[in-house]
Amino acid sequence: MDQHKWWQVTWLFISIIMFLSSLVQTLQTYDHDSLEDFFCKQVNKCIKNPKTGIFYNTSLPSNYTGMKVRAVRMRTSSFYIRGLNYSLLNVPPRVVPQPNRKRMVILYENFGNWSSHYFNVPTNYTMVAPVFGFVAYTSSKNAFIENEKMNLVTQGKPILIHFHHVRLHGKNDTPICVKFLENGRLKFNNMSKPYVCEAFGTGHYTLVIPSSLYNKSLFDIWWVLGFVIGFVGLVLLVLVLVTLVKASKKRKIKKLEKNSENGEAFDTFWIGETKMPLGSMVRTQPVLIENDS
Ligand SMILES: *[C@@H]1O[C@H](CO)[C@@H](O)[C@H](O)[C@H]1NC(C)=O
Ligand SMILES: *[C@@H]1O[C@H](CO)[C@@H](O)[C@H](O)[C@H]1NC(C)=O
Ligand SMILES: *[C@@H]1O[C@H](CO)[C@@H](O)[C@H](O)[C@H]1NC(C)=O
Ligand SMILES: *[C@@H]1O[C@H](CO)[C@@H](O)[C@H](O)[C@H]1NC(C)=O
Ligand SMILES: *[C@@H]1O[C@H](CO)[C@@H](O)[C@H](O)[C@H]1NC(C)=O
Repeated sequence: MDQHKWWQVTWLFISIIMFLSSLVQTLQTYDHDSLEDFFCKQVNKCIKNPKTGIFYNTSLPSNYTGMKVRAVRMRTSSFYIRGLNYSLLNVPPRVVPQPNRKRMVILYENFGNWSSHYFNVPTNYTMVAPVFGFVAYTSSKNAFIENEKMNLVTQGKPILIHFHHVRLHGKNDTPICVKFLENGRLKFNNMSKPYVCEAFGTGHYTLVIPSSLYNKSLFDIWWVLGFVIGFVGLVLLVLVLVTLVKASKKRKIKKLEKNSENGEAFDTFWIGETKMPLGSMVRTQPVLIENDS
């Protein structure tokens, strides 16, 4: 192969690899529901003999580095009377956990740098805080976390989430609170105080700002780039295939030419084992007939 063709083949392989990697990136799903189940199992596995009112860190496998999960067990009566102030979360008194049970567990979930993998905002918004989630479960002597989820019903005073650790530098935009609802829908709310969001139930929350094309997340840009490169790769693949087929056809013809003695011209064709110059066809026809008989 000459140098030109080596280049084509090298490009072909690079494009195929890029295309496959972009495909894998697209197909990789970060399913939040199954992650939630995983958190519960992990909490039950890791936390032995939990004390009431103590916040426990849950250790996660190393491929989850960057996420943080904490759990606390409480008596629902005490939760109702005193509320809960810890970390980002401020639950006022008289929030009713439902269904009515004696004990409950609250999971604190901080998705850190995984936030944009598990939670999507429309492309005209940019997440400016990690996603924080708090979920309530029933709890009993048998299981720290039971399968049953609990609702927290606020009466008047909202639950507050403090994103005080988030500071936007050099941006004029005021962040907007976002709650992630079922099937990818979002609920927007203005902040009640700077970097404080109001919540009226459990769920996953973050802050967003309206985004321009220029401050899209790097992840999106790579995603698009992967697709473009993959597409170009496909086009190149087709081009290379066409070129190769053409080249091999040419090579065959060249071979024919070479095989024909003394470089006879194209107007040669084969009858059985005998080579006939096309031009002499008419003239030599009698000879042909003789040969046949
Ligand atoms: C972490 O690894 C486990 C298998 O060891 C896999 O099931 C899980 O999906 C991985 N999680 C992430 C976020 O990569
Ligand atoms: C998040 O950061 C940790 C290190 O702090 C890293 O190991 C992990 O791969 C990162 N996760 C993602 C999705 O970038
Ligand atoms: C949490 O803070 C609120 C006021 O923000 C207060 O009313 C409540 O008593 C506090 N609860 C606890 C358990 O400290
Ligand atoms: C948020 O505040 C802006 C004005 O600053 C207002 O136009 C908008 O309707 C408010 N949005 C919500 C969801 O309250
Ligand atoms: C983002 O797009 C949605 C519709 O897709 C629209 O309702 C919303 O107002 C847009 N927000 C901004 C900040 O442009």
